[in-house]
Amino acid sequence: MKDHIVVLSGAGVSAESGLSTFRDSGGLWENYSVFDVATPEAFRRDPALVLRFYNDRRCQLAEVEPNAAHRALAELEKDFRVTIVTQNVDDLHERAGSSKVVHLHGELTQARSSRLDDLIYPIGYKPIELGDTCELGSQLRPHVVWFGEQVPMLEAAAGVVASADHLLVVGTSLQVYPAAGLVDFADPDVPITVIDPGEPARVNRATVIRKKASEGVSEWVARLRGQGR
Ligand code: APR
Repeated sequence: MKDHIVVLSGAGVSAESGLSTFRDSGGLWENYSVFDVATPEAFRRDPALVLRFYNDRRCQLAEVEPNAAHRALAELEKDFRVTIVTQNVDDLHERAGSSKVVHLHGELTQARSSRLDDLIYPIGYKPIELGDTCELGSQLRPHVVWFGEQVPMLEAAAGVVASADHLLVVGTSLQVYPAAGLVDFADPDVPITVIDPGEPARVNRATVIRKKASEGVSEWVARLRGQGR
């Protein structure tokens, strides 16, 4: 049976593709406070601003490419069972070739009914405008988990982490719960590696590779293959 590699990724894995992280930019996301664009209240208060913010993010995503870290993680599937649990709403893991990606915080490339959560529509990189409605006639919204909203994939993600033989944490400050708490679901004897050029979040018993994702992931993969596991 192939070892199961589980990767918990965050905004840092897409930084070298040109997408900004959340906390490196002083709490602003592309110059917006998350409270103006990433909460249900913000959407109620100014839906046009929120839609424009995510339309810009989707437009930007169409212009960027996966980086060496995304590609190295996709390559791993040749020799291991790999599941990516990401907090990112971009599609760069998928575009690099990863076949099992759990999006904890939703996906930019999907729209959702603002009335019924189950009504989800693939939209690629197209904008959502005021007046774009679901089949029930309600306004469409980004299929993104906003602050204060439930994380529907959390239980599934916890089960994935609990089944890991190796856990890699890459490009996340692990400051946002419940996602950050997922590391605690790994078995005590499972090796954990954290890759982050900055001050990585404290993960007890983790090996830290203090490098950018593109370099750090390749180094980690070489170690993994060297172990012949
Ligand atoms: N390679 C690897 N890590 C990097 C790189 C890089 N090139 N550049 C920055 N980092 C690290 C930073 O040091 C930081 O630890 O990536 C991490 C990014 O942390 P955040 O900006 O907090 O992003 P993330 O952890 O994904 O945020 C979690 O918060 O705003 C919400 O919903 C949003 O999903 C997001 C969640």
